[in-house]
Amino acid sequence: MKHKIFLFAVILGMLGLNSIVTGQSNTRSSVAGSLGKDEMPIGAYYYPEQWSANQWERDLKHMSSLGFQFTHLAEFAWSKMEPEEGHFDFEWLDKILSIAQKNGLKVIMCTPTPTPPAWLTNKYPEILSVNSDLIRQEHGSRLHVIYDHPVYLNYTRKIVTELAKRYGNHEAVAGWQLDNEPHFGPIYDYSQFAEKQFPVWLKEQYLTIDSLNQSWGTSFWSQTYNSFEQIKLPNAARAAQGVNPHAMLSFQRFMSDRLASALRFQAELLREIISLKQWVTTNYAYFKFLPLTDPFKNRADLDYASHTMYLTSGFLNSEGGLLSHRLGSGLELSFSAELAASVNGFTGIMELQPGQINWGAINPQPLPGAVRMWIWHAYALGDAFVCAYRFRQPLFGSEQTHKGIIDTDGVTVARGGKEYVQAIKEIKQIKPNSSKTNSALDNRRKTAFLWDYDNINDIENHRHHQDFDPWQHAYDYYAALKSMGCPVTFLQRDDAFDPSIYPFLVVPAFQLASPELIQKWQDYVQNGGHLILSCRTAKKDMNGHLWEAPNQYPIYDLIGASVSEFDHLPANFPGKVVFNNEQFLWYRWGDWIKPRPMTEVLATYGDQFYANTPAVVHRQQGKGTVTYIGVWSNGGKLEKAVLNEVFQKAGVEVFDLPEYVFTGWRNGHRVFVNYSSQSFSLLLKPQDKIILGDVLLKPGGVTVVEMD
Ligand code: GAL
Repeated sequence: MKHKIFLFAVILGMLGLNSIVTGQSNTRSSVAGSLGKDEMPIGAYYYPEQWSANQWERDLKHMSSLGFQFTHLAEFAWSKMEPEEGHFDFEWLDKILSIAQKNGLKVIMCTPTPTPPAWLTNKYPEILSVNSDLIRQEHGSRLHVIYDHPVYLNYTRKIVTELAKRYGNHEAVAGWQLDNEPHFGPIYDYSQFAEKQFPVWLKEQYLTIDSLNQSWGTSFWSQTYNSFEQIKLPNAARAAQGVNPHAMLSFQRFMSDRLASALRFQAELLREIISLKQWVTTNYAYFKFLPLTDPFKNRADLDYASHTMYLTSGFLNSEGGLLSHRLGSGLELSFSAELAASVNGFTGIMELQPGQINWGAINPQPLPGAVRMWIWHAYALGDAFVCAYRFRQPLFGSEQTHKGIIDTDGVTVARGGKEYVQAIKEIKQIKPNSSKTNSALDNRRKTAFLWDYDNINDIENHRHHQDFDPWQHAYDYYAALKSMGCPVTFLQRDDAFDPSIYPFLVVPAFQLASPELIQKWQDYVQNGGHLILSCRTAKKDMNGHLWEAPNQYPIYDLIGASVSEFDHLPANFPGKVVFNNEQFLWYRWGDWIKPRPMTEVLATYGDQFYANTPAVVHRQQGKGTVTYIGVWSNGGKLEKAVLNEVFQKAGVEVFDLPEYVFTGWRNGHRVFVNYSSQSFSLLLKPQDKIILGDVLLKPGGVTVVEMD
């Protein structure tokens, strides 16, 4: 069989059809190996176009001498590569590549599409995207273009092809990054191009206008369309009474399809030319703020998805204690890494801040040790590499006070730079045991997390309680799983739900469900999986309509209960819910559950006019169990307690880590990192051997232990 696959690849190569082979034979270790010699090579961004050419040699030599193994080039350099239309200049890139090579640095090469040159946007202003106030974006920033505009695609094709021809077989180039943190700058694009394309896209989806009318429920408020051409882009800024939620969901799907197709366009161009040894990725930014960028839509186009990480921006969840603004969001680092890794099996951090940043809410100095801890956390999560953003602090432009590895004088290693150097040395020293690829304990607590952007967007389009943030709801479950030490994989609805790989499956507020999906949940449980569903799950069909049946009717057999009503409260008058004699508070969502015989009640409401009504139920089914958590408790505390009980009932050992302490296992080493403002003593067994750090895990601390 192996021979057959090989033969197939060779024939495609001979026919010039490499694009069909997506290169997904790349693994974490082959990508790491292409970037350096260490288990997790570390690199740094360099912008030759921002520095005088006589400093390049000095800078890259310095980079290499500090232990960095690769650099990252050119994502914003279009105007330097093509200063005038059709006049390409790659000599400077040739030169920097040969300097990199001379200094033993590998290179991640980028396509420069987030920043078209001024000649291009001046010649074709129609490629500039338009925000919801119908204001066109202009030259002088970045990410201001319509990625899938045919004119832009044409210029994208030219520059990407030139780059691929020149560097697609260059020894120093390990792989390619498409664009930079790809998303439509103003999030929703309201350009005339989008307005014209939307009906075309809708026609492909719905085929007939009657079917669209039915799916969008346009008989409500006399919104019925006679033809696709009558349809405008749904825009909340132009609809005082709110837009049709089904139209909005379609628009969101349309937007993320467009971005995915523009990335696919670039990936296919590259793959036609570049060597099979070079891989293709892109660097996704904060998933929470860019819900129209669905990395899973580019699964087949990328070898893997990488992600970017600025932990002290102040816009993300953190512990909330005295030092948390300096330690940053460990939850987000973990979540982003595991989400990106779920696309094709592994990830790397393409950008990690090396110190203070300039664009966050308050931009504090990181706590001494924090930068090193972030790198160790990436290691614990199994990342293939980490890349520092950036090597030198810029002297001009929008990010002047953004720290680099090197300070403004161009030679002094900054405080955070020193922590990078320390982490590079430490990781080299601990000598990972590459034959230890599995932790038996981690395998038993491996948890799948069902993830779907349609679902999140549909809730966001109508939260029902203003504080029902679907991301926060998911984060509460995710944080609980991390405090239990569970490795998490995010699955798509079409993925296999295999209980022998994922003994636990968490399905948070999965509002849009099809009968097929519900059947997959049934099968998962029958085959021994432990399924945990939360409130709102299966409330609607895939059109986003309620069922013509009792509330959430299609899951009654699965959960062994019915859900008659749900309640919301003001935050300042929370309700009570009781589990194992402990009282928890809630206010955002509370289902009233009626269990069938044989279904166990785990928690009930402790007050309100429906006191004693069940809020959480659990049942055995087939070889597995189903737990339905119908309430969203404050801080996810009840959820954490229930998850612990489900794992305990299943006989699976879990950690009980304090909030914002994280752990991960890699090659025989268990790493603990502490993002909280307090110190904690680790509870270790006599056979566990500490090889780095201490039993006392201080804020910003790292402890590495040889253990399962
Ligand atoms: C990232 C972006 C980089 C740079 C960095 C500064 O989000 O991808 O290009 O702007 O922020 O922190």
